[in-house]
Amino acid sequence: MTHCKRPSPPAGGVTARRLISIDDLSDVEIAYILNLAEHYAGFLKRSKPAPHCLAGRTQINLFFEDSTRTNLSFDLAGRKLGADVVNVPVSASSVHKGESLIDTAQTLAAMGADVMIVRARQEGLHQRLDQLLDCVVINGGAGAFEHPTQALLDAATIRSKFETLDGLTIAICGDVKHSRVAGSDARLFVRLGATVRFVGPAALMPDDNQLTDIERCTNLKDGLAGADIVMGLRMQFERMGSGGKEAAQGYFETFGLTHETLKHASPGAFVMHPGPMNRGVEIDGALADDPARALILQQVFYGVATRMAVLDALLTIGK
Ligand code: NCD
Repeated sequence: MTHCKRPSPPAGGVTARRLISIDDLSDVEIAYILNLAEHYAGFLKRSKPAPHCLAGRTQINLFFEDSTRTNLSFDLAGRKLGADVVNVPVSASSVHKGESLIDTAQTLAAMGADVMIVRARQEGLHQRLDQLLDCVVINGGAGAFEHPTQALLDAATIRSKFETLDGLTIAICGDVKHSRVAGSDARLFVRLGATVRFVGPAALMPDDNQLTDIERCTNLKDGLAGADIVMGLRMQFERMGSGGKEAAQGYFETFGLTHETLKHASPGAFVMHPGPMNRGVEIDGALADDPARALILQQVFYGVATRMAVLDALLTIGK
C-alpha cells in the first residue's frame, strides 16, 4: 500500500505541537501521520529524494540513554527532509561536568532549535522541557513510560501487511512491566481498533493500576491464541535492579518466541520486536531471521519513514 500521492492534511490542520505521549495526537492526526509515513516509504523504497520541507530548520537529537535505531533513524529522517541535524554527544557534553539535563536542553534550544528529540529516563522531564523550550519536543523514549514514535512506526509496519489494524489481535509478549514500547503500542493499537493482550509472567506485568483495559495472560499458549501479530519485547535488565537476571531464568523455555510457539497464533501471524533483541532470551534467532514470519527489519525501515512523517506533520503543517 504505497501512497505515491501526498495525503491531504486533516481539515483542521495538525494542532499537536509536541509528541510526548501518543495521546498528544488526535485520531485524525494519527491517521494522517500513518498515511504520510507510507508516502515517505515510497521515496525510500525507490531511493528517490524527498522534498526538503525542513530546509533551514534545526533538529537537535539529545539522547541521555543509549539508542541505535531511534537516534539514527531520527537523524536520517531529518536529513532526508533537508533539516540541519545535530546529534549531541552526551557522553562528551557538560552533563558530565554536572550541568543539569534541563540546562543542557535550554542551552541547545538557544542555538536555534526548531525541534528537539529527547530520550531520558526521568519521569516528567519531557513535559518540563515542553513548557520551557520554544521548540517542538519529541519523545525519543522516556524511561519505562512512553515511546510514541515507536508505536507509530509499529502501526505503520503492521498496516503495510494488513492495510488496517482494525479487527486484528495483537499479543505483546515479555517484559511488559519495564517497557515504554508496550504502553505506547497498546494505547495506539486499541485506538486503531485492534484487540491487544499482554502476555508474560505475572512478575513482568504492569502494576495493577496501569493499563487496566488491556487483557493480561500469563500463559503463552492462551496468550498467542488467535494473534495476528506477536510483538516480542526485550528483557530490560537495566531497569530491573538487582535480581534482573533471575527474571530471565527459564524464561525462554516458558515464554520464548520460536517457530514452534508461534504455531499457537493465527496461521500466517507475524512476529515483531522493537529491538535490540536478546536472541535466545525472548526470541529464537531462527525466527527473528525468518523473512516469512518476522517484520523486525521492516520496523527499522518504517522507523525512518514514520519519523519523516512525524517531523513533517509537527513542523510544517499548521492549523
Ligand atoms: C526500545 C527502546 O529503547 O525503548 N528500542 C527502540 O527504541 N527501538 C526497546 C528496548 O530498549 O528494549
